[in-house]
Amino acid sequence: MSTSSPGVAVVVGGASGIGLASARRLRASGFDLVIADINDEAAGTVAAELDGRAIHLDVTDEGSVTTGFAGIEDLRAVVNCAGLSIPGAITELELAGWQTTVDICLTGSFLVLKHAGRHIADGGSITMIASLNGRQPGTGMAAYCAAKAGVLMLVEVAALELAERGVRVNAVSPGLVQTPLTEPLSFIPGLTEEYLENTPLGRVGQPDDVAATVAFLASADAGWMTGAAIDLNGGAHLQRYPDILGKVRALAQP
Ligand code: NAI
Repeated sequence: MSTSSPGVAVVVGGASGIGLASARRLRASGFDLVIADINDEAAGTVAAELDGRAIHLDVTDEGSVTTGFAGIEDLRAVVNCAGLSIPGAITELELAGWQTTVDICLTGSFLVLKHAGRHIADGGSITMIASLNGRQPGTGMAAYCAAKAGVLMLVEVAALELAERGVRVNAVSPGLVQTPLTEPLSFIPGLTEEYLENTPLGRVGQPDDVAATVAFLASADAGWMTGAAIDLNGGAHLQRYPDILGKVRALAQP
């Protein structure tokens, strides 16, 4: 570990997309990095690029989260980027799809907060990647919307509880960001267009748009910020989410 480092930053889900961009930003800020992901190969590649180390961590498995955080010293910053969405109308969504989404997005956030909260140094920073869908409903996204809304409240409770040690807990709520997670959406005709019509700044996000705010939250410049949810979406929260279900159903029409 370098002597000038502000400490160790763990990026959960750091092997791809927003997590990868966040890891690069945090490294540029001087943190020593741990990339914690279920994708061991990609995590290893990112860790090698950033002179850090990779650990296997599954946010849905408490044993894995416990072990992952227990082995880390001088922990100063944690970012949780693990997430996915199993889509489906409420009347059609399989319970398993609901549970998988809630397990990874909401229960996973709880487990990361629980074990990061135990091990992080006083004055540290924990950032959860929530979503525009935590406050803005989208058809076909019941599980994801509900889970991310839960993450926003979880962050507020954690901010209250961890403040006595000076640990700050915040959420970042991105709108549509181009990553491997959202690539399938680009194949739904008209979806991106409808999103952009409802986005005042007129563009989708790139992972680095989110990473810049993640790095800010981990820095001393955000030292008075806790319990916040930062909307990062080109203004899309001011308008409405595209009708994904309507578009998918139109595709299925002969
Ligand atoms: P991504 O799919 O590119 O990256 C997610 C990473 O999380 C991957 O490296 C994956 O291996 C890891 N991961 C998945 N399940 C895991 C588990 N159980 N334990 C540990 N790691 C796991 O996705 P992206 O787009 O970078 O998303 C990151 C976060 O941002 C997610 O929470 C997502 O819900 C949220 N988000 C993404 C938006 C977007 O438009 N891309 C918009 C709003 C929120």
